[in-house]
Amino acid sequence: MTKKQLDESVDYLKKRGFDVPEFGIVLGTGLGQLVDKIEDSIVAHYNHIPYFPLATVEFHSGKLIYGTIAGKKVVVMQGRFHLYEGYDFLDITYPVRVMHQLGIKKLFISNAAGAINLDFKRGDIMLIEDHINLQGGSPLAFKNVSKFGERFVDMSEPYDLEMRQKVEAIAKKEGVSLQKGVYASVVGPQLETKAEYRMLKTLGADAVGMSTVPEVIVANHLKLPVVAVSVLTDECDPDNLEPIDIEEIIAIASQTEPKMIQLFQGLIEAT
Ligand code: HPA
Repeated sequence: MTKKQLDESVDYLKKRGFDVPEFGIVLGTGLGQLVDKIEDSIVAHYNHIPYFPLATVEFHSGKLIYGTIAGKKVVVMQGRFHLYEGYDFLDITYPVRVMHQLGIKKLFISNAAGAINLDFKRGDIMLIEDHINLQGGSPLAFKNVSKFGERFVDMSEPYDLEMRQKVEAIAKKEGVSLQKGVYASVVGPQLETKAEYRMLKTLGADAVGMSTVPEVIVANHLKLPVVAVSVLTDECDPDNLEPIDIEEIIAIASQTEPKMIQLFQGLIEAT
C-alpha cells in the first residue's frame, strides 16, 4: 500500500460523486438491509475502484455506496474482505483507509458473531466494548507504517466511549435490548470446536467472529472514532453444542438486522 494508491482510489470515488461523507459504515455477513435506507445513492463496485483488493468470484457483489441517511452523508461498505478468503491484513483494512481519506469523521462497524457468554442469546445485539485479537497478525505490521501514522498505537480505549454511550441511550429509548462485551476475532473460516469455545470463555471473550478487529486497529491508527456491534447468530455452548451452518448464521443475522439499523440510524441522527 502506498499513498499514491490511496490517492488514486479516492480520486476515482470523488470523481464519481463521493464528495463529503461524514460517516463510514461497514456491513457484516447477512447484514445488507441498511442499504435500502440510503437515499440518492451512488454505487461503486469494489472491482472498479483502483487498488481495491480484487474480489473473489463469490464476492462479486461487494460495493461501496454513497448517499444520505437521516439527512447525513454516509459511505457504506456492502460486504467486507476477510482473512479467510485469502486476503492479507493490508487488503482487508484498505477500505477503511480509503473511507478515512474520503473524509469520514466516524466509523460504524457491524458483524455476525457467536455468543460465548451464555447469558446472551442468538438474535441479541452486543455493543463491543473491547476486543481480543486472535488473528495472529496486525494490519500495522508493515515496513512504512510510520508514513501513515504512529506505529505503536495506543489501544487503551479502542471503541469510542462517547459513541458507545450514545448507542446505549438510543437502545434504551427505542426499547432495543443491548448486551455489552468483549469480541474475540479468529481467522476462520471453520467454526470453533468445543475446546476452542471453552478457551475463548476462559480468555474473557463474550463473542467470537472473523472480522472487525483489524478494521478497528486501523481506525485507531487513523485516530478515527469507531463503534462496533455484533449481531449474535448462535450460542456457543460447549456442553450442548449443536451443529450450525453458514445459511443459519446468515438467516439469524438478517432477522436481527432491523434492530441494528435502528441503532445506526439513531446514532447518525444523534451525531
Ligand atoms: N464463531 C465464529 N464466527 C462466527 C460465529 C461463531 O460461532 N457465529 C457467527 N460468526
